[in-house]
Amino acid sequence: MTTTLPPTDNNALQDAANRHLFVGMTNPAQLAEEGGPLVMDSAEGVHIIAMDGKKYIDGISGMYFRNAGHGREEIARAVYEQLSRISMNVYAGATPATIQLAAKLAEITPGDLTRTFFCQGGSEANESSLKMAQAYHMRRGDKGRYKVISRKGSYHGSTYGTMWLGGHPGFPRTDYQPKPANVVTVPAPHYYHCEFGSSSPEECGELSAKAIEEAILFEGPESVSAVIGEPVSQPLGGVVPPSNYWPMVREICDKYGVVLIFDEVITGFGRLGKWFGADFVGVTPDIMSFAKGITSGYFPVGGSIATAEIADVFSGGPEKTWSHMYTYSAHPGGAAAALANLGIVERENLVENARARGEQLADRLADMKEKHPMIGDVRGAGLIQGIEFVADRETKQHFDSSMHVNMRLTEKLIDRGVWIRVPAYIIPIAPPLVITADEMDTLATAVDESLTEVEKELGV
Ligand SMILES: Cc1ncc(COP(=O)(O)O)c(C=O)c1O
Repeated sequence: MTTTLPPTDNNALQDAANRHLFVGMTNPAQLAEEGGPLVMDSAEGVHIIAMDGKKYIDGISGMYFRNAGHGREEIARAVYEQLSRISMNVYAGATPATIQLAAKLAEITPGDLTRTFFCQGGSEANESSLKMAQAYHMRRGDKGRYKVISRKGSYHGSTYGTMWLGGHPGFPRTDYQPKPANVVTVPAPHYYHCEFGSSSPEECGELSAKAIEEAILFEGPESVSAVIGEPVSQPLGGVVPPSNYWPMVREICDKYGVVLIFDEVITGFGRLGKWFGADFVGVTPDIMSFAKGITSGYFPVGGSIATAEIADVFSGGPEKTWSHMYTYSAHPGGAAAALANLGIVERENLVENARARGEQLADRLADMKEKHPMIGDVRGAGLIQGIEFVADRETKQHFDSSMHVNMRLTEKLIDRGVWIRVPAYIIPIAPPLVITADEMDTLATAVDESLTEVEKELGV
């Protein structure tokens, strides 16, 4: 057997990636045409330095997870120290860091969310939340509740159990038919594209909430386990529901004994300028899924935190046990990363910074909407915002995909030192929570100039 030295320079690495690596949600031929994936060498704050020496602002925080920014040695050291001491718990055991993190979550989450199951990421968190909801009904003798209601435009993960929830154009599921029989899909509370043709956000909020009640009644309340949704959903560029929506959904869930699950995989840990999306919308769920921002991506951690009412049904005789785990659940390295990360978020007031920089961004986006005819809508809150670009403002029709408007925008942004891959017809903007006012200005200016150039090319 001959051994070859691993590739180390940028071109060789890109070439090897094109041959040997699946890069999520892309295909090798397409990436090869662009040269290959961005091979990252180092990163600091909001900036990424690529192997070819180019520097970019990380415009979507990796994948909406880099809350405390890049290059935090403090988190890396906490993981190193933890793993040097004890690298994983034994079966039916726990470690101090994991217990401390569970207690910390009970303290910072709203209402009486109190007991956490840990896993490795957002899809697993949602899988766990859905299983917990169904098992909760079973323990209470409600054996027929297995259906899950989710909303169009949402994303809840890519495992078999989560990928058919929600749905949006950037995540086609045509290879994975059929849609599971327990998944019920309802309209999103999205005023710009309200399926009910509402004439006000309040009307859209009310009709979208009522659509959930109608689905529960149509399916039969005794068959419905849970409603799952992101307090503010990211895939379509930070869709903030009308303020009456979540309070109404909360009431509907209570009325029919349905568990309300918030997917806070992106909204958790400060991104909306509040600690949690639940705080932002003023509604506490029965179970909250989280991931991403809990460690800012320094260790893969996710989880589901439940109210005492839900958690307590799994305590008592052996028949009460919730039969669910992953080998690496409650990894102490992840807990150490999370504790260090949350310490930074608190010490540096990053939740408040997300709010302030979010306002600055919203002002810039409102200005851009005034001057760019290809902007149909700007939306979002905190550091989950986005621009929807359209071929026609009146009809809200999108550009034909053959015009590759998203790729043109991606190129212009990259030319200006901003790393955002623009999907379909949304420019997502979600930088790390550490972004400064000057950096936000640079980012917004790059978006503005990219739109100007693309409009010129398209003759808009
Ligand atoms: C709201 C939401 N839920 C769940 C997931 C899935 O998380 P993961 O990719 O960690 O499995 C994502 C991922 O982007 C997400 O945005």
